[in-house]
Amino acid sequence: MTSAVLDVYLSESDAEAELRSDARVGLTAVPKVLQPKWFYDAAGSEIYERITALPEYYPFNAEREILRAQAGQIAAASGAEALVELGSGSSEKTRLLLDALSTHGTLRSYLPLDVSEAALREATSALAVDYPRLMVHGIVGDFTRHLSRIPAAGKRLLAFLGGTIGNLMPEDRAVFLRNARAVLRPGEQLLVGVGLVIDPAVMVPAYDDSQGVTADFNRNVLRVLNRELGADFDVDAFEHRALWNAEREWIEMRLRATRRMTVHVAELGLHVPFAEGEEMRTETSAKFRPAGLRAELTGSGFELTELWTDSRQRFALALATAH
Ligand code: SAH
Ligand code: TRP
Repeated sequence: MTSAVLDVYLSESDAEAELRSDARVGLTAVPKVLQPKWFYDAAGSEIYERITALPEYYPFNAEREILRAQAGQIAAASGAEALVELGSGSSEKTRLLLDALSTHGTLRSYLPLDVSEAALREATSALAVDYPRLMVHGIVGDFTRHLSRIPAAGKRLLAFLGGTIGNLMPEDRAVFLRNARAVLRPGEQLLVGVGLVIDPAVMVPAYDDSQGVTADFNRNVLRVLNRELGADFDVDAFEHRALWNAEREWIEMRLRATRRMTVHVAELGLHVPFAEGEEMRTETSAKFRPAGLRAELTGSGFELTELWTDSRQRFALALATAH
């Protein structure tokens, strides 16, 4: 019987302490803001899986189209012995890379890292069964804090799919890229998927679908605060908003209070007033232009080796080499 190894770098008490401090800072800020990683408890990870199946959520299919077309070339170009993946979630699209790297004959291990222990456990146990010759080593961790703990198991390819790099604010993204470069050895590679700047009439519905699945996902962060911090958010009193910020070139997700209220966060001893119509930012999803992405990678010590897009130019997958 094969099984997967799971290392926990982010213990429940660490996560709890961080959630407390993020919530205290974010709920007392003007305007209010919450960090996106708190969406992904077990329920949130499941809702995200439903988002990926929505007709409006083109990034998932667009990235999969690129992976289907290019996985063989990526495997040949990287010759990786270990595939490390950040924010791996269900690892569904990753199977295309695992297959190509296995066929290429170099791959020994797969190391997915995610904050969502539930998603990671489910993904790694399924992969251990489907890829019995692969060493599957899950890491419960935060890609903004635990990159340096990634084992140096042979030649690595570091994958960061789903446009998740766009969920980091630009300053944090620059720090992330420098840290990623620092943990890689020269010649090792980064494979990063990003949404491209396209027509807002296509981008916005991907974050505001007609069935309300994304709205449910956005509000899930309030359920997490209620459960973990003893808050009393009336979840139904918040409305999902998604808008295109043309100046910053990102999609912004917000929760809008539909009435005036005061929320009590018991474990923080905090009373949080909301005005009617007040909006709290819960996520940004930056979209990229090829030249900008190249500049960011080059500026962090990578060389852009390949940049592929889907047939409709909505999404790009960049392969960059550490030098
Ligand atoms: N790679 C998958 C999932 C993308 S959703 C795909 O392409 O479909 C974003 C994933 O990143 C979720 O699984 C979430 O749990 C994880 N995540 C979000 N913030 C994180 C952080 N700071 N550190 C590690 N994982 C994080
Ligand atoms: N990485 C995904 C993205 O930016 C995450 C995501 C998809 C998301 N839909 C969302 C985050 C809705 C918050 C709300 O595309």
